Amino acid sequence: MATGAALWLYLLCHVLLAVAAAAAAADDRGKSGICHGRVGGNLPPPATAAALLRQNGVTKARLFLPDPAVLQAFAAAGIDLTVGVPNENLTFLAASGPEGAARWLRSAVLAHAPAERLRCLAVGNEVLYGDTFYAPHLVPAMMNLHAALAAMGLEGRVKVSSAHSSSVLAASYPPSAGAFGPAALPVLRPMLRFLADTGAPFMLNTYPFISYVNDPANVPLAYALFGAGAAPVQDGALAYTNLFDATVDALVAALEKEGFGGVPVAVTETGWPTAGHPAATPQNAAAYNAEIVGRAARGVGTPRRPGVPVEVFLFDMYDEDGKPGAEFERHFGIFRADGSKAYDINFA
Ligand SMILES: *[C@@H]1O[C@H](CO)[C@@H](O)[C@H](O)[C@H]1NC(C)=O
Repeated sequence: MATGAALWLYLLCHVLLAVAAAAAAADDRGKSGICHGRVGGNLPPPATAAALLRQNGVTKARLFLPDPAVLQAFAAAGIDLTVGVPNENLTFLAASGPEGAARWLRSAVLAHAPAERLRCLAVGNEVLYGDTFYAPHLVPAMMNLHAALAAMGLEGRVKVSSAHSSSVLAASYPPSAGAFGPAALPVLRPMLRFLADTGAPFMLNTYPFISYVNDPANVPLAYALFGAGAAPVQDGALAYTNLFDATVDALVAALEKEGFGGVPVAVTETGWPTAGHPAATPQNAAAYNAEIVGRAARGVGTPRRPGVPVEVFLFDMYDEDGKPGAEFERHFGIFRADGSKAYDINFA
């Protein structure tokens, strides 16, 4: 009797712990992360950046490359990391086999940040955005990195995925017509199989601001900005009041078309700049990012996947004055170099 009761108690504890762990993981998914790009000459040291995130209640960051000093400082501050594997490393990682990938992982990442802080590898950034050189190496590199993690006992703990530009969608209007471009399918199909098999998310970078800037005649500012005045886009039974939901759901529709409707979506970059364009104001950036953070926290999901949380990473921690391109590209920073906020936003 006594052993029976003890066994039950033991099992009950395990179930409760598992439930608590699942709830903690779900909570964590609802917390927005921040991208920390470092293409600038006036950026604060990594330890200052890490401390600033913690002061603001931010516990997740995306790094675009495994910079040793940044990995060390962010891991020491207890920040969970999504680490970019640079495109330039893909040819090696595709050809190296799991052993070579393990060597790379150890020296480039795990030597600087313990595995407990590593949440995800974002293998390549926007490789399918017109890149024909790295594209064939992408999925083999992902598979080798995954096999390397599995051999280290980190399978399931550290997810392996790849971040895509929203131009990976050849069709996105209306959202139910969402489809991948045919040129990318030979790479995407084995990638989707891999993501489904390993429980990793499809990572999307999406900027309603840029859609508005490129096509203001068809993308009303209010629709890009979660504005109350946006006329909804009706798509069958579903109504869309903002471009962010419409873009995520176009991706979901594209995933469903390929037979991978169960793959979760993570938005690995989104944001709104504060200068460099008439619509790039601190007020608009505050409104957009507050909506992104709030939706993620409430786990509202999207019309096509209601109640399914979409993990998000806001771009960008600081303005990066070394970024090429249009003026607004250098003004996505949420924080100023002195640690003050560029506009009022609350992550806690
Ligand atoms: C790949 O990554 C490592 C570590 O980040 C770096 O030192 C190396 O130069 C890269 N390799 C190539 C071929 O660029």
